[in-house]
Amino acid sequence: MRKPILAGNWKMNKTRDAAIHFILEVEPKLPKDNVDVIVCAPAILLRDLVKRSEVIKVGAQNMNEHDSGAYTGEISPVMLKDTKVEYVILGHSERRAYYNETDATVNAKIKKALEFELKPIVCVGETLEQREAGKTNDVLSNQIKKAFDGVTIENPENVIIAYEPIWAIGTGKSATSKEAQDSCKYIRELLTNIFGENISSKIRILYGGSINVKNFKDIISQEDIDGGLVGGSSLKEDDFVELTKDCLY
Ligand code: PGA
Repeated sequence: MRKPILAGNWKMNKTRDAAIHFILEVEPKLPKDNVDVIVCAPAILLRDLVKRSEVIKVGAQNMNEHDSGAYTGEISPVMLKDTKVEYVILGHSERRAYYNETDATVNAKIKKALEFELKPIVCVGETLEQREAGKTNDVLSNQIKKAFDGVTIENPENVIIAYEPIWAIGTGKSATSKEAQDSCKYIRELLTNIFGENISSKIRILYGGSINVKNFKDIISQEDIDGGLVGGSSLKEDDFVELTKDCLY
């Protein structure tokens, strides 16, 4: 049995006060076991979140692939470890679209994250154009193969993939539970081909893209979907709590 995950991606939202308010409001209402609840926050909030949260696990939204050096504005894995951050989102489609993140940088970052025992949440997904052209599986195959090229996985429980169709992110138009399941199943097959079934059956695969309190139950109940990566709905305390409960269906 894979333990479900509810991961919030706050993106570039919340001040320190709002972040602390969220933790104080949400934590007492969270299920204590059987679901990993994660908040991926802007780097400047990470230390406060680590300090304040007891149930919620903390993740970054990006990380540089070098340990240190002349990379102005970047955050290194050494710094994330020093801050006691546990997770890191890698290859989010917004980073790929706006900040030149490529499959090659995602590959280097996954290797670095694992070297530092940070748990990567690796994002993949197709554009609407690619889906309509029937290329979804080709895109996923290409992204997964390149992201995991030369990667050794020792603890599959610590590697997370997020299937996030780009057309569903922030649009209010989620994939249907069948579309999400089909792609997550396909991703698991790709992982089986690369790492073998023993490993692929333990890697958790999340769906992300316009998850809300109405559509999540149906999505999370699909066989190959082990949780959600949630943007907009993770900003609202009540919705976030409700989504964690949906994980315990
Ligand atoms: P959304 O974002 O839930 O607002 O669609 C998801 C994501 O980008 O991870």
